[in-house]
Amino acid sequence: MNNITIGIVGVGNVGSTLAFNLATSGLCKTILLKDIREDFIKAMSIDISQAAKASNNKTKIKACLCKDEFKNCNIVVITAGIARKPNMSREDLLLTNAKIIQNVFDEILEQNKEAIFIIVSNPLDAMVHVALEKSKLPRNRIFGMAGALDTSRFKYYIDQKLTNKYDNIEALVIGSHSNKMVPLINHVKIDGKKLTDILKEKDIEEILENTKNGGAKIVELLKTGSAYFAPAHCCFLMCKAIITNSKEVFATSTRLIKEYNYNNLTLGVPCILGKDGIEKIIELKLSKEETIDLKNSAKIVEESINLLQGLNNETNIWSTQCKMWWLCKYFD
Ligand code: LAC
Repeated sequence: MNNITIGIVGVGNVGSTLAFNLATSGLCKTILLKDIREDFIKAMSIDISQAAKASNNKTKIKACLCKDEFKNCNIVVITAGIARKPNMSREDLLLTNAKIIQNVFDEILEQNKEAIFIIVSNPLDAMVHVALEKSKLPRNRIFGMAGALDTSRFKYYIDQKLTNKYDNIEALVIGSHSNKMVPLINHVKIDGKKLTDILKEKDIEEILENTKNGGAKIVELLKTGSAYFAPAHCCFLMCKAIITNSKEVFATSTRLIKEYNYNNLTLGVPCILGKDGIEKIIELKLSKEETIDLKNSAKIVEESINLLQGLNNETNIWSTQCKMWWLCKYFD
């Protein structure tokens, strides 16, 4: 067995399902769990260890109750933060989860300097931005899981319309993890054929609509939180690609520096994953319409980042004003 350690910060539904996927697959030697609910992660570590034992798996799962125990991870998956409830958008979580992500990095970065970080907290692309700013790590080592999930939903709705008749669906969703995501309909291949040659426009419209609302549909039905099996499994597949250095392509939220003509914006695009994290960002040739859709999708992330930056500036101005006030008092 390899010597890989995977840390999971935030052991809610996604975190615990991911731990279960990892432990029962034997993909890594150690899984470290970190969450504010101590008894809960103790319970998870025992329960998931016993699941692993059922198939004679040797993965060790440890609940980390103090800061020093969560260390030397090869990969850290961060799902910490609040999840959305019905009638909430992912953007409604922005300020609370930005603070949580910053606190997480304050606690874990020092002891996990060599790790690759996969962010899952929402609003996803903005949280990847926060993590990159806070950690100052290179972009190949901090990125977000969302495009893989949106793509899995896209494939699901395509398959439903095709009534399971075809074996191989190739599809991709790019852009922000929001209801303005960009499912690339013209790039879909069904057993080598174009989807637009198989389905009517009305069916395609329905697929696009359902894909964009895929997460919200589950939130609406669950009422108490959001999806977790598909998000956790997509994270698992990304961890697997990194550990096995498979060089598979996943739609991944990454900081675009000049790719797709964006300057320092975090957005979902196809990336090759391997032992160094993101090994390559793939630049697709987009049509005029797709380029416009991507721009509209990017606006959501830009707005979130602007809001966060505005607040930062306000905090800075406020703290400068406070300092000035104290200085004036002092010299009075
Ligand atoms: C979803 C959440 C996890 O799309 O972002 O289900």
